[in-house]
Parts: sequence; structure tokens; C-alpha cells
Amino acid sequence: MYRQGQWQSGERASKWCRGARRVVTAVVVVMLWASAGAVRVKAQQKKTVMPWMDQSLSPDQRADLVLAQMTEAEKLQLVHGTGWGVLRPDTPVPAGDNGGAGFVPGIPRLGIPDVNLADSAVGVRMAALHGRYSTLLPSTLGAASSWDADAAYLYGAVIGRELRAQGYNMSIGGGVDLMREPRNGRNFEYAGEDPLLAGTMTGNLIGGLQAQRVMGDIKHYALNDQETGRNVLNVVLDKKSMRESDLLAFQIAIAIAHPAAVMCSYNKINGDFACENDYALNRVLKKDFGFRGWVLSDWEGTHSTVKAALSGLDQEQPGSKYFGEALREAIAAGQVPAARLNDMAHRILRSMFAVGVIDDPPVAAVMDPFQGRIDAQHIEEESIVLLRNAGGLLPLRPGIKSIALIGSHADVGVLSGGGSAQVDPPGGNVADPKRGNGEWGKPVYFPSSPLQEIRKKAPEASVTYADGGKVEEAVATAKGADVAIVFVNQYMSEGRDAATLSLPDHQDVLVSAVVAANPNTIVVLETGGPVSMPWHNTVEGILAAWYPGIGGAQAIANILFGDINPSGKLAATFPARDADLPHPGVTGFDPAKATPGTPDGASDITTPFDVDYTEGVRFGYKWFDSEHKEPLYPFGFGLSYTTFAYSNLQVDSGRCAVSFIVTNTGDRAGTEIAEVYVELPESAGENFKRLAGWQRVELGGGQSRNLTVMLDPLTMSIFDTAKDSFILPKGSYRVLAGPSSRETPLVGTLDE
Ligand code: BGC
Repeated sequence: MYRQGQWQSGERASKWCRGARRVVTAVVVVMLWASAGAVRVKAQQKKTVMPWMDQSLSPDQRADLVLAQMTEAEKLQLVHGTGWGVLRPDTPVPAGDNGGAGFVPGIPRLGIPDVNLADSAVGVRMAALHGRYSTLLPSTLGAASSWDADAAYLYGAVIGRELRAQGYNMSIGGGVDLMREPRNGRNFEYAGEDPLLAGTMTGNLIGGLQAQRVMGDIKHYALNDQETGRNVLNVVLDKKSMRESDLLAFQIAIAIAHPAAVMCSYNKINGDFACENDYALNRVLKKDFGFRGWVLSDWEGTHSTVKAALSGLDQEQPGSKYFGEALREAIAAGQVPAARLNDMAHRILRSMFAVGVIDDPPVAAVMDPFQGRIDAQHIEEESIVLLRNAGGLLPLRPGIKSIALIGSHADVGVLSGGGSAQVDPPGGNVADPKRGNGEWGKPVYFPSSPLQEIRKKAPEASVTYADGGKVEEAVATAKGADVAIVFVNQYMSEGRDAATLSLPDHQDVLVSAVVAANPNTIVVLETGGPVSMPWHNTVEGILAAWYPGIGGAQAIANILFGDINPSGKLAATFPARDADLPHPGVTGFDPAKATPGTPDGASDITTPFDVDYTEGVRFGYKWFDSEHKEPLYPFGFGLSYTTFAYSNLQVDSGRCAVSFIVTNTGDRAGTEIAEVYVELPESAGENFKRLAGWQRVELGGGQSRNLTVMLDPLTMSIFDTAKDSFILPKGSYRVLAGPSSRETPLVGTLDE
């Protein structure tokens, strides 16, 4: 099992962190050795005549052996896809293509299987060619709010086992672009704003997936932080900031999971497209991170042959415009060394061996939808964040007599995110009278009915529903009920960003009208990410349920009625208003073209523009802290139905370890996520804190536990561009521990 902190950066640690680093290294080595042993046993049982099928050899040795037998044409065949396949009508679908987003034919004479790649950010997209069920998980941003590496690992395992059962041997999920832009249409596919949290959660997700013998990918490398103009925009960002934030998230995830592949993004970074960016690919990813898998382009994100090949791109997707015949010619002309083609093919083959897709290929099977649903519900129960519980109205008492349920098709289902992360709903879109699989860019609701689940919890109560389309109707339904529960939504999708943080479709008006009619109002958010809530302090309770997944309704009902005590904490700051952000509007977004308050198609902009991140690393909580702005709800924040107290901080500078006691001061059992932040010595010139570690702890009523949190040296380091490496600044580090980034009752010092 992968866990928080079990990764190695390859960077220098100072003497006081060395003890901790050695422990971490030993654990990782033991884990890897143990799992390699299991594979070896199987290998010995498998008789083969091909020497590269000898599982006692390393993936690199095995790849070299096959490579030596391959013709140039066979190598070239591995470094590009076969076209858009099922993604575009009238495009041929080759034999062997399982119907996913990508396909690379294998080399049967050498025992190399086809690679079938499936989008699977929050569940398997499109299932297999002939349409099979797959589990819709909560959004990854939601899952990141669990701060639970085991939940992330389970998340990946669900996707891995379903991909495998459907005949896929590669996932193209694993999104970890940090939330610089809270209005980004794809935030629900990512893991929030902090590099340590996002990298740890995504790394564990990919670890869980690859343990199922399915190749994992991490994307979109890098800085694909908005959809507006994603194909033409140029991110301007200094190296120090990108290494300490956006690229650090990738670094951590890659070190945890060793994914088979990295998908480079559509945008440019400091002048070069990400898929032909020597600095990002060769310098940082392959050299500094020691990444040994392959780099594949986002779909039509390749822009050249020679430049891309020399800059580190290993595979063009989904077609062969640049890495097919054109690459063969470039090699013949001496513009690309033949060794580079060998390196590309080697990276692909070694990943196939390393993950096990050659030794243990997928076997079509009926996946278990029931287990998938249980797992999705469990993850959602850990992901929901209780943002407000003003008068203690929550949890709802089972004896409640009347409940008014309002909005967001809560009578029939829960919302899902769109784009290439869209999972097909079983039985069709429940919010659409015609059902069907839904169209790109149109909201799809899954059959998990909050109304039904709430009725089950309060069988004696009268539970009425109003769709929220007409405010007067909603008000009439809410009036006189013991409690009004308003589900509000913000549909988000690849290819477009939200115009604002405001809820679309006049839902702010709806909530305010309901509150005026019934002071006992609770709001459940089904959103892609942070939204502003001008009414927030007028309602009794707020739950952030994200896109809740197929077990969403049960999870929400369990939290509303207290069968589950909420424990999630925000993986991203909820700002009060757009104006408080580093960029008050999405850069390049033309409001004239947008429908106010709704997401608008924007990725098809063709005129290049810069997105200048002058804020450097200061986004999310680092921005709000350093600008002394009050967020609506801070990073790391989340309530429980019990309360926790923090005491007795001890800092062990030598081990880079922080200990303290957390006490459950209520009488209900609950889980607390205890967070530890550091402020760097003055010489670093920073005026914000950084998350450096955390621990989830389950405590019965009145129970205390002494926790030890190992701090992560890299999150306490600065990237020295002159030395081109991370260094730990000398001096005193302020250590802060507590329940959120804005509430850190324990303060200590860690000295070098
Ligand atoms: C998306 C990728 C996705 C690919 C294949 C692209 O538009 O950016 O995330 O994996 O399509 O569907």
C-alpha cells in the first residue's frame, strides 16, 4: 500500500531530515521488493521461448532484448496511435481496438500486445466498444478532500479492475494540474491546489490502478490550468515557482507510483508547446524526476516531428501525422538520431513489462458493479465536506416530520462531470426524459436518487420535492417544512471554463428565496470546484458533495442523518468572490461570448495569448494568506459532528517529525485530519505557509491520540535556479498544526 510521504525526490535533504528519508527509503524498497517477488514466482511458472519473457530480468533488460529483435517499422508503429477511432464518426476503428480513446497495435510475432487506452479520470469512459457498465466514482477533487491515501488507492483500484475486465491495459486518467484557476472546467478531474496533497492523492490513485496490472498515466503535463484557449495559450511562469508548485505535484505523484506514461498538455510553457518543451520533458521530467516511462501527447497535442522528438516526446496520439512516416524520414535524414527512436520504444516496452501487461494481460470478465458502487459510496462518504452547521441542525433527527427537497434533479439522480471524463450512466441520463448516453457538454445525471435515500432515512416524514425551476414553487414547498434541503449544481466539462464563481441558472436567488421561506435550510453543493455563496451565512448547513458518484445519494443521506460523521476537508480554497483571485477573470475568456453565470465553450480560441502567472507559487491558500484576504472557506477546512482539540506540540528537528495530541472533545466518534504547515526561514522571503504533512485519525468520543507527522523535506525546500536544485534554507522554520490552513493552534519551531 502506498502512503503519504513514501516517495523519494532524489533531491538533497539536509542533515536533520536524513533520518526520516532513510526510513522512507527503506519502506519503499521493502514494498517494491515484496511485490516484485510475487511477480517473479508467477514468471517462473510461465514457460516461454522468448528470452524477454523471463520475468526474473528487469523491465529494462527485457525491453532491450525485444528491441534488439525489432525492425525500424515495428519501432515506429509503437510511437503513434492509429487515429481518432471511435471518438470521431467515420474514422476507421482497427481490429483489436477496444473502443477507447486510443489504440496502438502490438507486435504479435514478438509477443507484444496491443495497447488499448481508455479515458478513465473518474471511472471508465465509454466502457468497452460494445457498451459495458462502469462505476462512476466521485470527482477526484472530491476524493482529494478525503486526504486519505488509502481512499485514493482504492479509487485507482476500482478503475484498474474495471479497465482490466473490459479488456483495456492502459488508463489515461491521473489528472494533477493544480488549481490555479478555480473556474477551470476540469478541476473536478484534478486534485486541488496544493502540490503535496494533490501529488500524494494522485500518486496513490495511480499506484492502486497499476497494482491491477493496468498501465497508468499522469496528465496534463503541465500547467494546463484552464480550458479557455488551451490549444494556443502560453503559460508564462518562472522556473522556481513551477518547480515548487505545479511540477512538484507531478514529481511527488511520479515518485509514488512510477506511472507508465505522462501525457503532455496542449498549452505552451514559456514559449514552447508542452509536447515539444525540452525543459519540461527532458530536463525536468526525464532527468530530474528520473521518469523512465513514456511521454504521450494529449490528443492532437503534437506539433512537430524533429523538435518534439528531440525535446522528449515519445508517442504521438491519437494519430501519426508527425511520428509516423515523417519521423522515419527525419531519422533517415539524420535530423533525429536512430537512438532516439530506440529510446521511445524502450520506454514504452519497459513500462509494459514493469506494470505487468505482458506477463498478466487483461482477461475479459464481468466486473462487479455492486462492489464498485460500495467503493464509490465509501470514497464519497470520506470526500463530502461539511462547510457549515450553524445551529447544529445537522445531523437531521430521524423523527423529523417533514422535509422539502429542492433542485438539481435530486428526485432522481446526482450530477457527473463532462468531457473526456464523462462516464456513461447505466440506463441513460436520468434527468433526460429521452434517457440516452448524453452529449458532449450537456449535464448527465446518474441514477442515485437523494429523494429515495432521504425517504429511507426518515420513513415517517413527508418528503416533498420541487425541481427549483420556479422559485415560487420551491418557496411553497419549503414553507412549513421542518427542514428544506436545496441541491445546487454547477456543471463543468472539459473544453470550457466557468465565467464566474457564481452558481449558474439563478440558483443564488433560489437559495435566498428558500431561506426567506424556511430558516432551517441546508444546501448541498454538486459542483466541479469552488463556488461563491453570497447566502452562506443565512443557511443552517452546507455540504460540499462534489460530483458524488454512483453511490452519491446514499453517501449524502448518510451524512445528512449522521450515520456517517463527515471528515472531508477542502483540497482547494473557496473564495468569496472572483475579485479576490490572482486573476479576477479567466485569462483570455471573452465575457461577450459567454452566457452569464454558465460555463462557455472556450477551448477553441485560435489567437494565441499569454497566461502570465505573476503570482508565482502564490495561488490558493498561499495567495489568500499573503494578500491577507479572507476566503469564504479556507483550504484544509471541514467540520465534523464532533469537535477536536490540539495540544502538546513537540518538534524533532533531527527527524523532521512533529508530534502532538488530538483529542475528540465530543461524545460522537469521528475522524480528524490533522494538518501541519511550515513557514520557511526569513531568508526565503515568503509570507505564507506551506502544507508539509498531515494525518487522518479516527477517535471515539473523549479519546485522545498522540500523532507523529513526518514533514516532507521537499515541501520545505526552495528551488535554487542558479544551482538548479532544491535546497533547504538555513534557519528557523515555524511549524503550525491544526484543523485547517487558517486555524493552527499549535505553533513551534524547527531548526536546522
Ligand atoms: C483530453 C485528454 C483526453 C484525450 C482523449 C483530450 O481532449 O485533454 O485528457 O485523455 O482527449 O480523450
